[in-house]
Amino acid sequence: MINLKTLSPKQIGFLKLIGFLLACLPFVRLIVAAVLDQLGANPLEFVTRSTGDWTLYFLCITLAVTPLRKLLQWPWMLRLRRMLGLFCFFYACCHFLSFLWFDHFFDLEEMWRDGLKRPFIAVGMIAFALLLPMAMTSTNRMIQRLGGKRWARLHQSIYLVALLALLHFFWMKAAKHNFAQPILFAGIVSLLLGLRIYWKLSGKLSGKPRANLEI
Ligand code: HEM
Repeated sequence: MINLKTLSPKQIGFLKLIGFLLACLPFVRLIVAAVLDQLGANPLEFVTRSTGDWTLYFLCITLAVTPLRKLLQWPWMLRLRRMLGLFCFFYACCHFLSFLWFDHFFDLEEMWRDGLKRPFIAVGMIAFALLLPMAMTSTNRMIQRLGGKRWARLHQSIYLVALLALLHFFWMKAAKHNFAQPILFAGIVSLLLGLRIYWKLSGKLSGKPRANLEI
């Protein structure tokens, strides 16, 4: 019987591989659907929406690592967090590129004007700009160079990204009077951030020290 509280490095490696393959599936599905011409009546919209959805899903999955690790007492979950965060960034890049390519054919000026005209796009761009430094400092070398505290402070901008991503989603869906999904994600993000606030306050009150790299 596997003890999920203490996994060996080999078992963690295996889990990472499974996680990696599963995380690639949405991208592979898009490529296969494109090759088979099965992207629906509006393929460009399908790609932009699908990659936007997966950016949001991976953002939530990454934010869920710390609460799950604490609640289930599975310390090894921390070893999956970097990969999950990088998948969030990967799908954000695909989302951004699909918009830049299909909507504006790589015309940055035109994209900029669109951002001013449709503020939900500007909000998405800010969220994406905040993801960039996090992805660039995700290596062990960068953690060492920055120092644990500075690194953790920089990576805490993931909370702001989550709020901006929600605003982006709400704003986009509001134009279509469709609030069900944004409300669902607002609930998930509130729970994930609310637990952190609760733990931070109760940790402070009971004087418990916090790990440097905790996000
Ligand atoms: C962290 C960053 C981002 C997240 C989490 C995100 C997430 C999303 C989500 C969930 C949707 C709705 C998909 C659906 O209808 O099911 C969406 C739509 C959209 N996003 Fe983003 N987005 C991000 C960044 C960006 C950026 C940087 C741009 C462009 C510069 C952008 C442009 C768009 C556009 C144009 C749509 C609407 C697509 C349509 O109506 O067909 N997003 N995004």
